[in-house]
Amino acid sequence: MSILKELEQELKEIVKKAGYDVEKLSLETSNRRDLGEYQLNDAMQLAKTYKENPRTIAAKIVEELEKNNHFTNINIAGPGFINISLSEEYTIEILNRINKDIFSNIEKRESKKIIIDFGGANVSKALHVGHLRSANLGEALKRLGRLLGYEVLGDAHLGDYGRPLGLVVLEIKKMYPELPYFDESYTGNYEEVDLPITNADLERIYPLASTKSKEDEEYLEEAREVTVKIQKKERGYYDLWKKVVEISKADIKKVYDSLNVDYDLWLGESDAVEHFEELNAIFEEKNLLKDSNGAKIIEVAEETDNSPMPPLLFIKSNGSISYETTDLATILQRKKDYNPDEILYVVDGRQSLHFEQVFRAARKAKLVEDNVNLEFVGFGTMNGKDGKPFKTRDGGVMTLKSLIDLVTNETLKRINPETVNEEEKESVARTVAIAALKYADFLPFRSTDYIFEIEKFADLEGKTGPYLLYSTIRMKSLLTKAKELKSEEVKVLTGQTEKDIALTILNLPAILNKSLDTRSLNEIAEYLYKITSQYNKFYAENKVLTEENQALQESWLVLTKIVYNINTMLLDILGIKVPNKM
Ligand code: ARG
Repeated sequence: MSILKELEQELKEIVKKAGYDVEKLSLETSNRRDLGEYQLNDAMQLAKTYKENPRTIAAKIVEELEKNNHFTNINIAGPGFINISLSEEYTIEILNRINKDIFSNIEKRESKKIIIDFGGANVSKALHVGHLRSANLGEALKRLGRLLGYEVLGDAHLGDYGRPLGLVVLEIKKMYPELPYFDESYTGNYEEVDLPITNADLERIYPLASTKSKEDEEYLEEAREVTVKIQKKERGYYDLWKKVVEISKADIKKVYDSLNVDYDLWLGESDAVEHFEELNAIFEEKNLLKDSNGAKIIEVAEETDNSPMPPLLFIKSNGSISYETTDLATILQRKKDYNPDEILYVVDGRQSLHFEQVFRAARKAKLVEDNVNLEFVGFGTMNGKDGKPFKTRDGGVMTLKSLIDLVTNETLKRINPETVNEEEKESVARTVAIAALKYADFLPFRSTDYIFEIEKFADLEGKTGPYLLYSTIRMKSLLTKAKELKSEEVKVLTGQTEKDIALTILNLPAILNKSLDTRSLNEIAEYLYKITSQYNKFYAENKVLTEENQALQESWLVLTKIVYNINTMLLDILGIKVPNKM
């Protein structure tokens, strides 16, 4: 249980001793700190229930509160608001508990199994800026969910199915017709074939093939045939496709690694399609498929819809499986293999209609039980100054790799040459760049678009990743310098800034809960800035290392330790690494 919840429990008992029963206490942080740190607003409600004057009720509660040494500065305001503050004694006790065990202030949830579908990278295409938020957000939700007690599986859900792959394989055939993949008489082992193609080649091949297919009807037809061959697992073509997936996946993984993002499952659309026959049978049996000009569709509109809801395209008129159907098949596969309580889809907000259709069809066919939560976690885009999705200077798609390089060049300018030597500079700049990018990405609510402003993101001052890293490194360095000094427990707590920090610490569980519930990390991002700024204010006000009052010095060091631990824990949730120096 969180400490604040515990406190609420205690207050309920106190109210009871005063003669009143409240079901849910309303304890709120006060915005009039001069009057009290918290406000208890229950007297007004109790007045109605007990038909008494609220001020009389408040006075009786205050009488009981005064007997308790956890509270101080107890007073009644207005019609019966009770203001209270936490006593020094109690605050010290709390801080010492948290110092011993940071989890004493973290509210674990009842365990459930969650699959987070995020990333959605497409095989043989470069990851681009549009993939950034999905990766950041999905990874952070995964880490946060685990911290709060959930069992979480992250799935990359690679786009490895359909025409794009046919195009790539066809273009490879045009480039290297002599490869054994295209030789029907070849009887050797395809695993041993040396494919003269790198990931960089693949990234060029796809756009090339895609352009050709748009200009050349015959080429397109050929690509269709190749796609069918791959989907039918025809020897040679299928083996080449597997190789292409492997090459591409290795590179995709590298980019995700650099963002501190990783997956438990590297499944793709093609893995789900294995379950297509079974899926089809379920929909057939439930009579949910309708013919429409040679295609099969599923009606998903509901009477209460107030915007158009087109039917889901299940099988296209050319017989191929739609993107919607790959997602339906994935639900079936996930249900069979993992039986999750929840599936979250961290995907660009512009795909919301797609998921609404998929979820409705899945419910109609009862692919999962009604209590399984299928949830679309849509996000906004990172835009350029023109308000459109961020592009390269010449208007092309910006790859994630170039984006990271761009930011690294910016953070490189701000690395302190006195603390970081030449050899380490580049790698430190990279770590800082990732922090800059990720933090800026988490700061707006997830569904909000934001503008890429490189100087602002990389700034060492203000609400930025580099500011947080710099400050956290400084906390660590203070603790390292104080290694020989006693730092076991908080003994005194007198300053206002210290008290502010303590109250912020108490608020942590609420922030974690809110972030998980809203599927957005903005609260955590703001919280990190708040606690760090409060700490920096404290740091400027006090000379910890030279303080002569030992009890005070020890207390300050413990406070530093707690803030440092909270910062590293939260940065870790955001997938941000802290360098040793910068
Ligand atoms: N690969 C897809 C795309 O590029 C995104 C996949 C999102 N996840 C999903 N389960 N549909 O649009």
